[in-house]
Amino acid sequence: MKAIELRRKYIEFFEGHGHKAIPSAPVVPENDPTVLFTTAGMHPLVPYLLGEPHPQGKRLTDYQKCIRTGDIDSVGDPSHLTFFEMMGNWSLGDYFKNESIAMSYEFLKDVLGFDMDKISITVFEGEDGIPRDEEAAAAWEKAGIPKERIYYCSREHNWWGPAGETGPCGPDTEIFYDTGKPACSDHCDPTCSCGKYLEIWNNVFMQYNKTKEGTYELLKAPNVDTGLGLERVIGLLQGKSNVYETELFADVIAKIEELAKNPNISSSRIIADHLRASMFMIVDGVRPSNVEQGYVLRRLLRRVIRHMRKVEFDPNNVGLLVDTFVNIMSEMYPEIPANKATLVEVIEEEKNKFLKTLEHGEKEFAKNVEKAKVEGKTKLEGPVVFRLYDTFGFPPEMTAELAEENGMTIDMEEFEALFKEHQEKSRAGSEAKFKGGLADHSEKTTAYHTATHLLHKALQIVLGEHATQKGSNLTAERLRFDFANPQKVTKEELQRVEDIVNEQIKRDLVVTCEEMSLEEAEASGATGLFASKYGDKVKVYTIGDFSKEICGGPHVERTGGMGRFKIKKEEGVAAGIRRIKAVLEEE
Ligand code: ALA
Repeated sequence: MKAIELRRKYIEFFEGHGHKAIPSAPVVPENDPTVLFTTAGMHPLVPYLLGEPHPQGKRLTDYQKCIRTGDIDSVGDPSHLTFFEMMGNWSLGDYFKNESIAMSYEFLKDVLGFDMDKISITVFEGEDGIPRDEEAAAAWEKAGIPKERIYYCSREHNWWGPAGETGPCGPDTEIFYDTGKPACSDHCDPTCSCGKYLEIWNNVFMQYNKTKEGTYELLKAPNVDTGLGLERVIGLLQGKSNVYETELFADVIAKIEELAKNPNISSSRIIADHLRASMFMIVDGVRPSNVEQGYVLRRLLRRVIRHMRKVEFDPNNVGLLVDTFVNIMSEMYPEIPANKATLVEVIEEEKNKFLKTLEHGEKEFAKNVEKAKVEGKTKLEGPVVFRLYDTFGFPPEMTAELAEENGMTIDMEEFEALFKEHQEKSRAGSEAKFKGGLADHSEKTTAYHTATHLLHKALQIVLGEHATQKGSNLTAERLRFDFANPQKVTKEELQRVEDIVNEQIKRDLVVTCEEMSLEEAEASGATGLFASKYGDKVKVYTIGDFSKEICGGPHVERTGGMGRFKIKKEEGVAAGIRRIKAVLEEE
């Protein structure tokens, strides 16, 4: 079975059980500033898991493009990926443990034909008033898994979420496949990382909402959130010992090994995995930079290039690998071939930038390793790491990896202190230059947050009240705002919107924040997206006499000094939804 067929079978199976299929969201979350990337299928569904009714009903299924950077150090092994596809099914206050477990069992056994004797299960052992999950264990037994292969495990293994700092979470039950490798010890069980057991599916029973204060409140209706790793499952179904041997990677790995003069499997996998993840980030609008998502992209691409040099694969041939991926992925991910020119352009540009300094940086690195060795040190000092970063563009994580290959470590704390000092200095510099302008990226993001409220209101004034927010995404460099409008916004209308926003900035309006109940907020005329996301008490931000919105913040204290608001682009993103990209320019 090919990956695309597994995807289809999954969706069809759950549709057959009353679920509605919904599309994958982008890898950069639209409405959650607490995380950089979409890390699970549940992510775009947070408001609905917290109680907001979903327009498609209570049973949903989808495949979701995910990026997880927490596992980056494991990439190179047989099963960890930075980008992967998560198949999922959800019950929004509908079915719970029994039905969820019965459906998972049926899908694995009857649709995929898994040998169920090779399946083991973990369930939550209970803690602090949250009971041992005997209900899930009983459901598994009833489905056909014998007691000996059901393991009760701690929170570390069987509690999932929230995906960001706050949000829905709960105990889970995880499904493992026994790869047939011999047990590494008498204690080897599904929680062991030796590779005998491979996690393929996770069913989370979301009963709690973790609040900002760190407490857990019971959700009104319990939900089910599941995630099945498409690449891992397809590897198992094809009898492969690792995901890189499947059709999703094999041609790229073969190309790397053909062209590398000194190939090694771990580097080939890192190159393939990181390049693939980078391509999905670029398609969703991320560009290499030194902050937030852009910095993760930069780190991935620079690591690709370093590993290419390590295996003696000419980085100037990176385009050949992009081509191969475009061919492999065109059927499953049409957005990849559709954006081929942009992908090549962005990757080539970052490669060229890095190659300019890489060789000198490697020399500098080698010199410092020698020096440290002569001095009997095993740690590279902060100033060395900082110089490699600042002058040669070496992300510190990459320097750490290089150091490890030389049996050394780096002083990350000292690096971070120097980094901060440097940031403060440059902020002081640009503050002087721009008369108190906003240079620090967190301040800049805050200003974009406030600009989003001004833009929202201005759009409603110019286009009408229907022009409500449908999504927004901020970085330190720009804002992106999606809103309802049936047709293209004209040049003249955009100009008026821009003028209105700039006028409010000039008026130096005071921004205030009040906490109140949702009902009070609504009565006060505040607008708000996903209101229920914020819990019982909501924050209402008022900008002078101009705007009033329910929002988590943060916002600037006064609008003066935010910069000059400029709309860069207006385009359609879906039927009836338009998108504006805008920046705040220094005055
Ligand atoms: N949200 C769950 C996970 O990511 C299903 O494992």
